[in-house]
Amino acid sequence: MDKPHAPPLLEARRIHKSYGQGASTVAILNGVDLDVRAGEFVAVLGPSGSGKSTLLNLFGLLDKPTRGEILIGGKPTAHLDEEDRSRLRVRRLGFLFQFDSLLPEFSVLENLLMPVRIARAQGIATLRDREFQDSAREILSRFGIERLASRLPSQLSGGERQRAALSRALINEPETLLADEPTGNLDKENAELVFKDLRRLADERALAVVMATHNEAIARYASRIVSLADGHIKEMSVTR
Ligand SMILES: Nc1ncnc2c1ncn2[C@@H]1O[C@H](COP(=O)(O)OP(=O)(O)OP(=O)(O)O)[C@@H](O)[C@H]1O
Ligand SMILES: [Mg+2]
Repeated sequence: MDKPHAPPLLEARRIHKSYGQGASTVAILNGVDLDVRAGEFVAVLGPSGSGKSTLLNLFGLLDKPTRGEILIGGKPTAHLDEEDRSRLRVRRLGFLFQFDSLLPEFSVLENLLMPVRIARAQGIATLRDREFQDSAREILSRFGIERLASRLPSQLSGGERQRAALSRALINEPETLLADEPTGNLDKENAELVFKDLRRLADERALAVVMATHNEAIARYASRIVSLADGHIKEMSVTR
């Protein structure tokens, strides 16, 4: 766990986000506050269109708030240029998008190598080739898809693709995983296996997980549940 005085890994402070301009402006987030610390597994629940993906995109520095501030590791991010934002993403964050983002012309293993290549290109310390092979095998077997390493995404089921994308999100050992509905294509059993594994990573390696999901089973695995409605965050439960 985090030292009590360490800053949160992620902080949203009075975040507002609107889309559109003038009379057609639609406010999606209306003053959202949320801190996420190492080892926390935060589930973000909320109806379709409530702004869950919007919030994850802001935490991932993929979009900017209309008002308010996103801090990463205690540091404000508003003034950063695109290069600095990209370095922060590569160094600290793992992403799992709502819609499949595997590169179709590359094998599962090659897809896992992409974030490592990007980190290397940015001069960020990351896995060497040998370590990559071992880590990739370990992560893929964690999600039960090691035997699929050399397949193309088109040769996988939807659920297998999701688990491959999840493996890729973890390969650079991020301190925070931003996961948008990662179990949407999984049956109940496999969804719970993914939740369980992420909970274990949170407990054992202090990974912070922020997961948007509609899956009710999350309640048993998340350490904290918040709900998003009418542009506001409400704490639902904390189990520790
Ligand atoms: N780039 C955009 N431009 C305009 N409106 C947008 C944009 N992105 C999202 N929205 C709108 O903002 C609202 C929130 O979208 P968001 O994707 O965050 O919802 P969500 O909670 O993730 O929903 P779901 O559960 O369906 O994934 C929606 O009404 C959506 O249409
Ligand atoms: Mg969404």
